Amino acid sequence: MIVSPSLLSANFADLKTDIDMINRSEADWLHLDVMDGVFVPNISFGFPVLEAVAKICTKKLDVHLMIVEPAKFIPQVKALGAYMMNVHYEACPHLHRTIQQIHEAGMKAAVTLNPHTPVCLLEDIIRDVDMVLLMTVNPGFGGQKFIEHSIDKVKALREMITRTGSKALIEVDGGVNGDTGKRLAEAGVDVLVAGSYVFGAEKPEERISLLKNL
Ligand code: DX5
Ligand code: ZN
Repeated sequence: MIVSPSLLSANFADLKTDIDMINRSEADWLHLDVMDGVFVPNISFGFPVLEAVAKICTKKLDVHLMIVEPAKFIPQVKALGAYMMNVHYEACPHLHRTIQQIHEAGMKAAVTLNPHTPVCLLEDIIRDVDMVLLMTVNPGFGGQKFIEHSIDKVKALREMITRTGSKALIEVDGGVNGDTGKRLAEAGVDVLVAGSYVFGAEKPEERISLLKNL
């Protein structure tokens, strides 16, 4: 399992301590949630903070843009040295072009679906993306309850990927813990994002290790 802890639940008054922990841990990626207060009803952190984080993080950066017009920010995301750029299906009227532009910038490209957006809408883009991020809560906040219907969406997406020969990974984000993580792994997920489950723990590295070995 690929594990991508979400910095949204870290201690913002002492980010270095949390990033040092991530660097030492078995985490594969670091998940970075950018919010604009328009696409989602919350604002998190922006590029000045991400630049400081990128300088000290040794893991691959998995940038999740919960913003309108994400294509505008491809150069800034690239400048961070990001590995994966996630854009929302609901925020991209020209998704195919945006995916092309992310690839031209030298990054992996992922399309993200809100809980209400059906997997079948990916039929004509699934071969072009490196990953699909399924939101398993409504985006904007950490610590929310996992939406059970997400398990069916993972299965439907796994079926589409197998049928089309797509190489896309399946990532899930929201409400992931030891229990939901195990069921998501069984349903065919490749990448688990976890915020509060990791950073809310006394021993976050153990939680990362648990998810890693699911
Ligand atoms: C929510 C973010 C998530 C968030 C998940 O909009 O996209 O990455 O950090 O938090 P948990 O794991 O606490 O549900
Ligand atoms: Zn996220």
